[in-house]
Amino acid sequence: MKLALAADHGAFELKNSIKKHLDEKGIEYNDFGCFSKESVDYPVFAYKAASAVANKEYDFGIICCTTGLGVSMAANKVKGIRAAVCTNEMLAEMTRRHNNANVICMGQNVVSSELANKLVDIFISTEFEGGRHTRRVNLITDIENGKTLE
Ligand code: RB5
Repeated sequence: MKLALAADHGAFELKNSIKKHLDEKGIEYNDFGCFSKESVDYPVFAYKAASAVANKEYDFGIICCTTGLGVSMAANKVKGIRAAVCTNEMLAEMTRRHNNANVICMGQNVVSSELANKLVDIFISTEFEGGRHTRRVNLITDIENGKTLE
């Protein structure tokens, strides 16, 4: 399991605490920045981590900003990315089971570091259910490829 991490300045501390958690668990990751609390543009960092996941270099992405919202919008523009903002355990579980999400987005001003660690654990350990959900996820890909859905 290899994870791609990224955050803007608004979630620099949350990213650091997630890294500590992953270090304790012995989970491999690459930190795509940012690397200080200096103001940066969140789409750049969301793009870096999301592209690495889309290229299959990493199993999942963990991308954070102040709210989780901006990075999720940016990450979802990368082909092959299904990024979900998660604020509780149920969302972290369901977006893996039903949406086969490959990126979890969280906001430093929204979740505590303890909750963020919990959501990461749930997200990376929950399997996609497949079945009818495969058809639905494939329809999301169809939208991405410009198909018209009836
Ligand atoms: C940065 O100020 C803030 O806009 C960013 O962290 C994020 O929350 C955007 O959605």
